Amino acid sequence: MNPSRRQFLQNSTQLAASASLTTLLPDEVIASPRLFSAADTVSVGLIGCNSMGWADLTSMLKNPGVRCIALCDVDQNVLNKRAADLAKLPSVQASGQKATLYSDFRKLLENKDIDAVIVGTPDHWHCLPTVYACQAGKDVYVEKPLANSIEECDLMVAAARKHKRITQVGQWQRSGPHWKNAIDYVRSGQIGTIRTVKTWAYMPYGKTFPVVANEPVPAGVDYEMWLGPAPKRPFNRNRFHGTFRYFWDYAGGLMTDWAHTWSILPYGVCR
Ligand SMILES: NC(=O)c1ccc[n+]([C@@H]2O[C@H](COP(=O)([O-])OP(=O)(O)OC[C@H]3O[C@@H](n4cnc5c(N)ncnc54)[C@H](O)[C@@H]3O)[C@@H](O)[C@H]2O)c1
Repeated sequence: MNPSRRQFLQNSTQLAASASLTTLLPDEVIASPRLFSAADTVSVGLIGCNSMGWADLTSMLKNPGVRCIALCDVDQNVLNKRAADLAKLPSVQASGQKATLYSDFRKLLENKDIDAVIVGTPDHWHCLPTVYACQAGKDVYVEKPLANSIEECDLMVAAARKHKRITQVGQWQRSGPHWKNAIDYVRSGQIGTIRTVKTWAYMPYGKTFPVVANEPVPAGVDYEMWLGPAPKRPFNRNRFHGTFRYFWDYAGGLMTDWAHTWSILPYGVCR
């Protein structure tokens, strides 16, 4: 077998194993399902507010008892916009909640009033905020894909276990009832033994976009912090919000964004 293909398969297998973060719950929570009552308040902080992190937050805020007390983003423009958006939400207006704004997630994690964080940063910034949040005693909802390497996944799982945190990887699609129905149908044996599975994405994901020149870092952006663990390079808009996912330095395109997530389904199709 081609060495790179063998490595890929090894990585995929390890990823499926290490991605058990999706279902990690501390023993005492499993043993005491009533540890949290409906009357409890969960104070949430959002790290990475632009797109999916914001969608996660607004969805969570629909649950009574959830309040957002902190927002963090390295782009001040995003941070200010989301602070204004948050203040306009009817539930926030009704309760008079106020969110503290942070540009450095490590400062947010020092806030003792925060119970849980949402990590809505690009993929290259999933591991460290998750590990540090676990160390700070916060529960974590981290966007998919879990991370960019098996080593990062292992560190995240180890931190969640060590600090006994409740953790979940954000995979909205996998919570829809039709996915569960499809899995149950396959498992029921009604279509016999499955020997081949073909998957494809019937969507315009990864359309090409024009190459643009590097440019000065936009005002209000802490670009050093946006790069974080990624290689240093000049600012280029194509590598920034949203489209970072097409570059290996930060993500892995549709393959890691969607394909690998199949292998970490909580109830599993392809495990
Ligand atoms: N957008 C979607 O439809 C979608 C769907 C599913 C999953 N996701 C996942 O959600 C994550 C975020 O995707 P997105 O599309 O929202 O990206 P985005 O680029 O639109 O937003 C990411 C935000 O994180 C901020 N950020 C970057 N580094 C940071 C740091 N160190 N501290 C604080 N903030 C930081 C950025 O400034 C930006 O505002 C990705 O992992 C992605 O795979 C996105």
